[in-house]
Amino acid sequence: MTRLVVTGVGANVWQFHSPGIAAIDATVVAVHDVDADRAKLVADELDCPVAASLDELLGHGADLAVVLAPHRFHADLVVTCLQARHHVFVEKPLTVTMTDADRMCDEADRQQRLLAVAFQQRTRTEVIRARELIAGGELGELQRVDLLATWPRKSGYFDTAPWRGTWRGEGGGVLVNQGHHDLDLLCHVVGPPASVLARTRTAVHPIETEDTAVALAEWSNGATGTIRVSTAETGEQQRLEVVGTGGRLRLTPGRLEFWRNAEDFRDYAAAPGDPYAAPRIDTVETLTGRDGRHVQLYQNLVAAIAGERELVAAGRSAALTTELAAALIMSGRLRREVSLPVDRAGYDELLLELAAR
Ligand SMILES: NC(=O)c1ccc[n+]([C@@H]2O[C@H](COP(=O)([O-])OP(=O)(O)OC[C@H]3O[C@@H](n4cnc5c(N)ncnc54)[C@H](O)[C@@H]3O)[C@@H](O)[C@H]2O)c1
Repeated sequence: MTRLVVTGVGANVWQFHSPGIAAIDATVVAVHDVDADRAKLVADELDCPVAASLDELLGHGADLAVVLAPHRFHADLVVTCLQARHHVFVEKPLTVTMTDADRMCDEADRQQRLLAVAFQQRTRTEVIRARELIAGGELGELQRVDLLATWPRKSGYFDTAPWRGTWRGEGGGVLVNQGHHDLDLLCHVVGPPASVLARTRTAVHPIETEDTAVALAEWSNGATGTIRVSTAETGEQQRLEVVGTGGRLRLTPGRLEFWRNAEDFRDYAAAPGDPYAAPRIDTVETLTGRDGRHVQLYQNLVAAIAGERELVAAGRSAALTTELAAALIMSGRLRREVSLPVDRAGYDELLLELAAR
């Protein structure tokens, strides 16, 4: 049976972890939060002790540490847990700078412990199928990628915790928080772009960080696409459309549609005959999805600890999403195209400068 400890247990997001922990029949041996009253509420429910410090928490002999504190604390907390030889499950985003992301992933390697990140949308069955179609070459050569996601929030949401919407407390806005899930789908399903040219703005909410971001993205093969995420507008909740020479797919919450071309677009374009003849679609596949909760991530994590599965969202793959968010923020602030991987020192400097304003 998995023995686990939780830091930042007073977090709102605990509500998603509690069913996951129940699903794997794990025992919470102790909890911690810098706000001891919040920790006590959960400890009473679980009938476990409250640790007064992280060190005390890690002295309880658990196998797994779950980190739910706000993102700016993820790197230090995760590294300390890894050094205490715990596997770690950390909430998304992995962290906010690539210097920290590298440090966390390197430590996991050094300690030979698993580092899993809470990207629960990767377990949606329609997402798994979309990734499989692309990895299996069914879309042919990548041509276009469009991502749209809206997360309408009232400005009062940003008052629910002092860290929200600040450079010092959060290290970014919609790109590192809500829309980070959508950026992760793009990286996980398609792969990250090679460069981005972004415009970021604080359109509606009285916050320091961006509430809206839009970008032109380019992949290494020359394919192009757009990214738009916002907490300041309404619209489709999430849509990822990917077009290749072999077909087109559209991913929306709970649904995947895939149109397979009868022939590769390059063969269609080169073929003689009526120049206006429309390309033929061979088959249309639609899938109604399920899953996408923390429960599936916990189930995957215990299987990975037992050596039976790969992690769905390991630190290194989550770091690709950190990298994309950083590139978008950097591009938006500097108003120029930014290539991935981002300049680590340059990004650290930019965040320090933004936090000091
Ligand atoms: N996967 C998801 O869908 C999802 C959903 C919501 C939140 N999240 C992530 O979960 C994290 C927490 O978000 P939230 O909205 O639940 O936050 P929250 O503000 O509700 O709670 C954060 C908790 O962490 C505690 N804390 C702060 N600093 C700490 C430290 N250094 N050590 C230990 N505890 C500390 C606070 O006292 C508080 O109890 C964020 O990183 C967020 O992005 C993920």
